Amino acid sequence: MNRIPLARPFWDDECESAAVAALSSGRWVKGPQAKEFGKEFASWCGALSAIPCQSGSAALWAAMRLLDIGPGDEVIVPGMTFIATATSVSLAGATPVFADIEEDYWCICPDDVEAKITEKTKAVIGVHIFGQTFSPRLIDVCKKHGIALVEDAAQAHGATLNGIKAGAIGDIACFSFFPSKNMAVGGEGGIITTTRSDLAGKMARIVDHGRNENLESVELGTNLRMSEVSAAIGRIQLKHLQEWIEKRRKNSQSINHQTKTRAESEHAWHQLCVLSDKPDELISKFNQAGIDARVHYPLPCNKHQVYSDHFQHESELPVCDKVAKNLVAIPVHPSLTEDEIERINSVLSL
Ligand SMILES: Cc1ncc(COP(=O)(O)O)c(C=O)c1O
Repeated sequence: MNRIPLARPFWDDECESAAVAALSSGRWVKGPQAKEFGKEFASWCGALSAIPCQSGSAALWAAMRLLDIGPGDEVIVPGMTFIATATSVSLAGATPVFADIEEDYWCICPDDVEAKITEKTKAVIGVHIFGQTFSPRLIDVCKKHGIALVEDAAQAHGATLNGIKAGAIGDIACFSFFPSKNMAVGGEGGIITTTRSDLAGKMARIVDHGRNENLESVELGTNLRMSEVSAAIGRIQLKHLQEWIEKRRKNSQSINHQTKTRAESEHAWHQLCVLSDKPDELISKFNQAGIDARVHYPLPCNKHQVYSDHFQHESELPVCDKVAKNLVAIPVHPSLTEDEIERINSVLSL
């Protein structure tokens, strides 16, 4: 019996030919592939512009720099997310302020965000957790207080909120192409998108040492560029993305779970997480059935050692504290077969 993994990266002859062609061209960096990939991705998600880069984490750091966020500034982030959402703020020299998450959908809670806004708050990073977009109320809160909204869309390629795709909802959005994500680039990768014309030029520069067309560094940036071979693979994967997301949605309907979805949002099902009061038992049942499953995320970000000096290290975030350790990710990826879905369902019904 084959083991069912949490993700199966896609690779076919077309990806291979595109990769070989990019390498054979001898143009390994700063060539046409990354440029075209950026244009195609922006058009796919409805953003004004998109710039490929080296990872989702690099995209988040760049987003902070694009908004001139630095020492003395605060950025509100959810307590439950992948740690890079918070550390991108710290790496920019600013302070992440942790907000609790919604009881039903596990995205950042707009009421708690509003309660935590101070005169130092420059932005909110809303994470579309597991592929479900944050609440539309988060957009209203940011508008009301005149602060920027950054989408952490690392898990949400193809998710929509009121018909608008992730990547075109906030001021800036950051995607990851880590191999397990909804699409990938054959290695590490990410992309930054923006809906703001005043940020588009700066966004193109930030991944290239902040240099202008005369190669003068006009602002702080570094080398965050995506290589041509990755971009060439990404362009092929992008052509399949919508079909893969539909398949993820279909799989999520065939799997017997109680996970809630927001009415205004179309979930992209990067992860299917089920809430369990006995997560270790559930994971071991999946393991015995030859199926990978694991807890997402076992520790709220403020409780990580890296934040041992943070003013919220010991603070309670009641919903984060309650669901951390109890959310179990199970396979939902597009290459699941009907038999595999049946195997997953048999464990869920035990
Ligand atoms: C919510 C979230 N933010 C940021 C990242 C960072 O992306 P990367 O691994 O490409 O740096 C990830 C990746 O797992 C993620 O899930």
